[in-house]
Amino acid sequence: MSEITVDPEKELAPWREVSLNELIKHIVGVHHAYMKKEIPRIKGLFENLDGDLPDGLFDKYRSVAQDMKQHTFKEEDVLFPLIAEMENQANRGEQVVCSSCTSVASYIEQMELEHDDVLEIFDWFKGETGGYSSGDEAIAEIYSALHVMHEDLKVHIAKENRILHVRAIELENSGS
Ligand SMILES: [Fe+2]
Ligand SMILES: [Fe+2]
Repeated sequence: MSEITVDPEKELAPWREVSLNELIKHIVGVHHAYMKKEIPRIKGLFENLDGDLPDGLFDKYRSVAQDMKQHTFKEEDVLFPLIAEMENQANRGEQVVCSSCTSVASYIEQMELEHDDVLEIFDWFKGETGGYSSGDEAIAEIYSALHVMHEDLKVHIAKENRILHVRAIELENSGS
């Protein structure tokens, strides 16, 4: 299964060159869109499975799926519009201020804790499934979907933590 393992560093390079507004559009249009489509599809695969899974796997999936949904809503409804607005202020030559928050950095800190939690759960999935491998076809389909999601999350989260968040904090600090 290693062929779908991605190198986040390589994936990141082109996104260091674009505006934060463009990066946000990309994250929402590619990674969030993928999650919104794939989370319910994987749930359906679990529900239709007639086979034995490791204890607690489906429960943990249901719980992390809920966490990921709430997390992406918080980004799309709160954090991303704040960052986009700060960049627009800077582009207009205005003083950068977070109009509806006390600090973008503290909101980002919370989002990054949530990223750590999600990656920890996917590491657990990887361990419990023997590296996402199974001889049973229906189970292998679920494991493969989880594996692809794990790899996508690594890239998605790296784009947020290592580019978007870093540059948003720099922007915020430039206004103080
Ligand atoms: Fe995200
Ligand atoms: Fe995120």
